[in-house]
Amino acid sequence: MEQINLEVSHLTVTISADRGKIIPVNDVSLRIPAGKIVGIVGESGCGKSMTARAVIGLIRSPGRVTGGSVRLGDRELTGLPPKERRRLMGSEISMVFQEPMSSLNPVMKVGRQVEEALLQHGVCSRKEAKERVLEMFRAVEIPEPETRYESYPHQLSGGLRQRVMIAMAMVCRPRILIADEPTTALDVTVEAQILRLLRQLRDQGTGLLVISHNLGVIAQLCDWVYVMYAGRIVESAPAEELFERPLHPYTRGLFRSVLSLEEGPDTLETIPGVVPSLYHLPEGCSFSLRCPRCEALCEREMPELRELTPGHAVRCRPVEKEALHE
Ligand SMILES: Nc1ncnc2c1ncn2[C@@H]1O[C@H](COP(=O)(O)OP(=O)(O)OP(=O)(O)O)[C@@H](O)[C@H]1O
Ligand SMILES: [Mg+2]
Repeated sequence: MEQINLEVSHLTVTISADRGKIIPVNDVSLRIPAGKIVGIVGESGCGKSMTARAVIGLIRSPGRVTGGSVRLGDRELTGLPPKERRRLMGSEISMVFQEPMSSLNPVMKVGRQVEEALLQHGVCSRKEAKERVLEMFRAVEIPEPETRYESYPHQLSGGLRQRVMIAMAMVCRPRILIADEPTTALDVTVEAQILRLLRQLRDQGTGLLVISHNLGVIAQLCDWVYVMYAGRIVESAPAEELFERPLHPYTRGLFRSVLSLEEGPDTLETIPGVVPSLYHLPEGCSFSLRCPRCEALCEREMPELRELTPGHAVRCRPVEKEALHE
């Protein structure tokens, strides 16, 4: 299969609500190469799901994509007419949503639901479709696929439902799979199985965007990581580099809070302060109110995201100054 990458450039989502205007996705650029797993990590509310929805063109009102572009190979995806977009969804890009229960039809057998996804795209006849679905169920290691085909969503465990969702997303063999919190609410054994499945898809050439607030999941899975804070990318680097040498004070705080959790609750060290409301962001750097390295200029001006070493970009003026003097 020809290798095609997904390129997101300066993507911006604006929500105009009664309380005012917010920008939950602000100038986000990222790249998902074929055969790689790219991660977005950040605290709840930082804009991860909204970014994913903007990428696939499914932003719900009152939200609106107000800037940027999403390109799959040389095709522009933003602003496509709904019919065109639906044709691409599933066959080229697929998404496993954060809420598996609300994305499955409760009164339809799961086998039929996956089959419908296949038939919608006219990939094969109804007769062939069932066989393809069973094959997909086997590929995602759903035990007793024939029996499971006849099950309703509520008859399945959380782990099996997640596998059905992944089977549904993968059945038309898309080039790009977006998985929003694919293992949240699953126990660690099932989590490990789902992570293995995602790695297999990568090894077969799928490009994956995995969204998680769980650093452990990101560390185990990703080739490349983007750290998001209050709607913006604040750091990005190859995963190994990021975990070895986190630069942004927010990333460092995030990593420390996880490490101290592992040492036991007594040493719990969290990032001081609370995530600012998107309605009341500080004038300068969004992290300035909580940042141990905040300087006067940080409070007044949003820093740029700058590549400090090849592939490693960070949005922090003090870190950038330090790197210049090294
Ligand atoms: N309809 C809406 N009106 C106003 N604000 C909204 C609306 N929908 C989402 N938001 C805000 O947009 C921001 C981004 O939400 P998003 O769901 O992308 O966060 P997230 O990073 O996926 O969080 P989580 O880890 O909890 O899933 C949040 O701060 C949220 O409060
Ligand atoms: Mg989310």
